[in-house]
Amino acid sequence: MAAFQLLFQLLFQLLFPLLVSCVATSTRPPRHLSACQVVQMDVFCSDLSLKSAPVNLPRGVQTLDLSRNQVQNLTQETLAYHTGFHHLNLRSNKIHFIQPGLFKDMTELKVLDLSRNHLNVFALSKINVGPLTAVKSLDLSSNGLYTGMSDYFLAESPSLENLSLNGNSITKISQTTFRGSASLRKIGLHNNVILEIEDGAFDSLNRLTELDLSKNSITCITDFNLCNLKVLNLSKNSMEFFQSATSADYYNLLSLDLSENKMSYFPLLPRNNRLEYLDVSRNRLQSVNVTGSPEKKVFFYHLRYLDMSYNQLKSIPESFFYCMRSLEVLNVSNNCINSFSVANEGLLHTVKIINLSYNPLQSLTFGENTLQSLEKLFLIGNDLATLDHRIFQRLPSIKHLELQRNNLQICSSDQNQQDPLGCVSFSSVPNLQYLDLSENNLRTLPANAFSNSPLTLLDLSLNLGLDMDKDSLSSLEHSLVHLLLRENNISSLNTDLSSLMSLKHIDLSTNQLTALPVWNKDSSIESLNLRNNNLVTLEYSTMLALEHSLKTLYMGSNPLSCCNNLDFLHMVQNSAVVVPDIETVTCVHEEYSEPVNIEKVTQEMCHRSGVQNVVIAVVVTVLVAVIVLVLLVKFCHSRKPKHNRSFNA
Ligand SMILES: *[C@@H]1O[C@H](CO)[C@@H](O)[C@H](O)[C@H]1NC(C)=O
Ligand SMILES: *[C@@H]1O[C@H](CO)[C@@H](O)[C@H](O)[C@H]1NC(C)=O
Ligand SMILES: *[C@@H]1O[C@H](CO)[C@@H](O)[C@H](O)[C@H]1NC(C)=O
Ligand SMILES: *[C@@H]1O[C@H](CO)[C@@H](O)[C@H](O)[C@H]1NC(C)=O
Ligand SMILES: *[C@@H]1O[C@H](CO)[C@@H](O)[C@H](O)[C@H]1NC(C)=O
Ligand SMILES: *[C@@H]1O[C@H](CO)[C@@H](O)[C@H](O)[C@H]1NC(C)=O
Ligand SMILES: *[C@@H]1O[C@H](CO)[C@@H](O)[C@H](O)[C@H]1NC(C)=O
Repeated sequence: MAAFQLLFQLLFQLLFPLLVSCVATSTRPPRHLSACQVVQMDVFCSDLSLKSAPVNLPRGVQTLDLSRNQVQNLTQETLAYHTGFHHLNLRSNKIHFIQPGLFKDMTELKVLDLSRNHLNVFALSKINVGPLTAVKSLDLSSNGLYTGMSDYFLAESPSLENLSLNGNSITKISQTTFRGSASLRKIGLHNNVILEIEDGAFDSLNRLTELDLSKNSITCITDFNLCNLKVLNLSKNSMEFFQSATSADYYNLLSLDLSENKMSYFPLLPRNNRLEYLDVSRNRLQSVNVTGSPEKKVFFYHLRYLDMSYNQLKSIPESFFYCMRSLEVLNVSNNCINSFSVANEGLLHTVKIINLSYNPLQSLTFGENTLQSLEKLFLIGNDLATLDHRIFQRLPSIKHLELQRNNLQICSSDQNQQDPLGCVSFSSVPNLQYLDLSENNLRTLPANAFSNSPLTLLDLSLNLGLDMDKDSLSSLEHSLVHLLLRENNISSLNTDLSSLMSLKHIDLSTNQLTALPVWNKDSSIESLNLRNNNLVTLEYSTMLALEHSLKTLYMGSNPLSCCNNLDFLHMVQNSAVVVPDIETVTCVHEEYSEPVNIEKVTQEMCHRSGVQNVVIAVVVTVLVAVIVLVLLVKFCHSRKPKHNRSFNA
């Protein structure tokens, strides 16, 4: 008997696919299982205009993906009377009714996605959906739910850990909202219109660690007391005030996002905190007066990331950083700071990145033995003109310096010995690799400006009329890979670039160059930008030397001569070099009133004009010969009568 059953089962399994296709041909299209993808016990029927699941789902199906279909009424029938699901995805349907108790027997159901449906219609019926016995993750986002409506789904969800209510219309979180879901660890309430959170609304949730309240209308939080919470997002609200309950309790909060609010005061955080990430960017901070009396002082021993960009800070007292012993990233860009100083020995010794860009900074000082770990310093768009000339030599770890849009001048190496005014030294900064000095009104680049600094990138663009010493780049021979000299109005380069053995990328666009820099076969230039210069003839031997390494060449907007660059044009047309701006690369040909695109230039165009020249020469010669002849004949003719006359006489 048992053997017979086994045989039957085997047969069934073998014949099942056949059976499926039979059923498939005999039922109406939407009920096809064959249209779905079946992978072991998982069935994927996304985007098939289905009103319900295929009737012939395999027994023991665990995952059913019915997302993006036409399900309206979610009943046992819709799910083909299966109850063994682990994962049900019903996202993006038109569900407006759920059979009460539908999930009661689904003791394996862990993940239920009901996002993007019309569950607000169901909620109007004021019926509980019934127990969600085992569900750990429930997505109810974008269902038009408003205050109180989530109660019908959450009333009996004892196992629920992850809940998304994002994108609904909830205005208030009340004390009862999460009463039936005490296991919650993570709640998403992003993009609602929450104005009010009742006292104690989250108190019963002992395991809650992540709460996303971003993009709501919360104006203040005065007694923050969720000690177990690790991640709190309050970004994009109307917060004017954030204050934690004054207690000696230990808070587990690691990440607090308060960006894009209306905070005028630095948040008042719990005294015993282990906060690592704090974002208060895009607020209305004018000062960072955190301190009250010393016994109330808040310490930030664990803070690693602090973003205060886009505020109205005028200054930051050094004392603000005293208790930040772990800070790694400090962003205070886009404020009104005109002076920044770190003088106390040992201060901010863990900071790796400081972003002070877009301030009206005029004064910047770093004391000895401060900022020993600083690797990247951003000072873009400030008013820096005078700095202690050895300021960057004091930063032993500095690798990356962005100083564009200031008013700095560079000291020459001999000036380094004395105490020069009005210039900054960039030599002997032992780890400096990236230096951007574009748009500084730099007038000169003195000799050995970067000696003993292993630069790989140097940007000197937008310094109109920059006068580069011929030895200005010496000592960069084996390090420099990128050199940018864009928009400097340079008419000739007197610096020898061919000695820069590592140079691969050079931008010389928008200058007045009339000749190519000289390169030999040892060069390794891969991309060369010569757009918008005054190049008429390209030295073909230089182009040949570049050809073996060159991959990209920009050449547009130059008054090239067509016929003087035939070899070069041939090279561009036949080599692997990519000319991305080829559409704008034109040359001048005497026979054409408009510049000719270089792709259209042929050898013959230039030869034909040669032939024509020969024709013209022949014509001219013949003409001259004829005139001479005529003159001669005339001369002879005029002598004849004379002779005749004499003869006559
Ligand atoms: C949904 O289906 C059930 C059972 O078939 C039925 O009783 C109910 O009226 C339907 N509801 C709606 C809103 O269509
Ligand atoms: C809940 O969310 C966390 C964090 O996003 C995730 O790691 C976890 O897998 C989720 N749990 C379930 C059951 O979906
Ligand atoms: C907080 O929420 C905003 C908006 O949803 C999001 O952009 C931001 O990344 C979140 N913050 C963190 C720290 O995850
Ligand atoms: C900073 O706080 C201290 C003590 O509360 C107060 O005396 C001082 O005026 C405050 N400074 C600013 C700039 O608000
Ligand atoms: C602030 O600067 C940090 C580090 O440079 C960066 O990661 C962050 O995105 C910046 N903040 C804003 C709001 O751009
Ligand atoms: C510096 O901060 C500004 C925001 O003020 C941001 O846009 C920029 O990306 C940051 N720079 C870096 C390099 O992170
Ligand atoms: C660029 O240099 C040329 C001389 O080479 C000079 O005539 C011209 O005024 C300069 N242009 C600017 C904008 O300084």
